[in-house]
Amino acid sequence: MKSITFLSRNRYFVVAALSMVMVRASYCKLMKPVIPGIANYFGTKCRYEEVNPHLMDNILFVNKSLMGPPSPDCRAVHLIAVIRHGTRYPTVKNIKRMARLCDLVKAEATGPDWWLHDIKNNWRMWYTEDMDGKLVEKGKNDLRHLAVRLAETFPSLISEENLRGNRMEFITSSKHRCVDSIKAFQEGLLQHWDVRGVGFKHYVNDSLMRFFEQCQRYVEDVENNKTALKEVEVFKSSVEMEEVRRRMASRLQIPLSQITTDLVEAAFFLCSYEFAIKSENSPWCNLLDEVDAEVLEYKNDLKQYWKRAYGHDINRKSSCSLFHDLFRRLDQASYDYRFGEVTKAVSIQVGHAETLLPLLSLMGFFRDETPLTAENFSQQHNRKFRTSWMVPYAANLLFVLYECSDGLRLQFFINEKPMTFPKINHSAPLYETVRNHLSDLLDGCDFKKECELPRVRPTKTEL
Ligand SMILES: *[C@@H]1O[C@H](CO)[C@@H](O)[C@H](O)[C@H]1NC(C)=O
Ligand SMILES: *[C@@H]1O[C@H](CO)[C@@H](O)[C@H](O)[C@H]1NC(C)=O
Ligand SMILES: *[C@@H]1O[C@H](CO)[C@@H](O)[C@H](O)[C@H]1NC(C)=O
Ligand SMILES: *[C@@H]1O[C@H](CO)[C@@H](O)[C@H](O)[C@H]1NC(C)=O
Ligand SMILES: *[C@@H]1O[C@H](CO)[C@@H](O)[C@H](O)[C@H]1NC(C)=O
Repeated sequence: MKSITFLSRNRYFVVAALSMVMVRASYCKLMKPVIPGIANYFGTKCRYEEVNPHLMDNILFVNKSLMGPPSPDCRAVHLIAVIRHGTRYPTVKNIKRMARLCDLVKAEATGPDWWLHDIKNNWRMWYTEDMDGKLVEKGKNDLRHLAVRLAETFPSLISEENLRGNRMEFITSSKHRCVDSIKAFQEGLLQHWDVRGVGFKHYVNDSLMRFFEQCQRYVEDVENNKTALKEVEVFKSSVEMEEVRRRMASRLQIPLSQITTDLVEAAFFLCSYEFAIKSENSPWCNLLDEVDAEVLEYKNDLKQYWKRAYGHDINRKSSCSLFHDLFRRLDQASYDYRFGEVTKAVSIQVGHAETLLPLLSLMGFFRDETPLTAENFSQQHNRKFRTSWMVPYAANLLFVLYECSDGLRLQFFINEKPMTFPKINHSAPLYETVRNHLSDLLDGCDFKKECELPRVRPTKTEL
């Protein structure tokens, strides 16, 4: 119980007031903006607040006109939320890279800039390898706040009554950052309702939330295939990337040969983590400008595109099991609604960017007409596939089933913004329309068939 009492209503106020004081103090001291100019380009390392800027003023704000029912005669009957874990520490691989950059800059960089002075004299490499991808305190708050906003948005579904009636289900990936995220989500709700004496359960289910590692064809054809991400490799040595290296080398006055693409990325990571974890506009952010950030964002988008999305068909297909599970839940809810007792109202499912991207791609969201490649950075300037916007920390997909006077309707939201299903010209189509539209997937998309590898036939001699 103790763990949740600290999140009292007052705390939101205290935290807000305190951070305003801190923000002001640091602004006066350093005379620089609080948000790095490149904060919108961090891809999967973006804060949720960059995608929903109004949350910077009030983290619990819900835009009721955006999130409301399709029409006043509709009543929400079922909600599925597929959520990415909150803000986390870097993984070991990136911590090592960041340490290498830090050593290099401290030893070799010269120049009169205040930020370089700041790095050399005041910045200490505080990331340690044991942090390896764990959820940070900010990440817990991401989920606590999301829980409160969703409870405000769907009060008849995310309710104490449904909690007590066991009509809310919580499913998570086994990774500690996801388990910690789902617990934070639950804490947020208990605190919001001021409920004591009722516990939440959660279930770990990796075949749903980490399907990608259980799909053997995916593992063999993409994960373990050195050429599957060749576009990313080619882009790393592109003209655009060389220009980024050149500019960073010149800012640091370090020979270009020492500034590898890996180290450029390390600077990008340092800026993003200092901002996401500590809300600081770190001196490291000055190693890159917005032009550089666009190139680095594209590099990350290329990677996600080829590793988790449209690049290879099996990326999308690996999510067939999760897809079918979602529609099984929606079908069950629509059956329950027609024939009486509702058994489940809400399903909260926590996973990874790697969980959300294949599912989004399977359903055809954010599909560009032409593929993202190493050659077409400039042509893809206005691409739909932008991971900064799609899968920041605490990214979420909501499927909301409504009972309306003319039947059941389905609304889909990404990061609390309504989205229309590709090729369905309606913001809240009839559930039947969605089912018909996705019939090929609903009738096919067999995880076992798509993911199994052909059996190695025994040769004659073995027989
Ligand atoms: C809420 O969403 C509507 C669009 O439906 C928009 O016009 C309005 O500005 C939003 N309000 C706030 C406070 O963000
Ligand atoms: C995970 O979910 C799937 C689909 O709902 C189900 O068939 C399976 O039994 C679950 N696994 C575990 C370990 O609960
Ligand atoms: C590896 O990826 C390449 C490029 O997509 C593809 O042509 C090749 O078939 C893949 N190899 C295996 C073993 O799947
Ligand atoms: C990007 O490149 C691919 C192949 O390299 C090409 O098929 C596609 O048309 C290009 N896209 C754009 C927008 O130029
Ligand atoms: C989509 O629907 C709107 C009205 O709901 C209509 O004006 C428009 O022509 C439709 N577009 C297509 C491509 O069907």
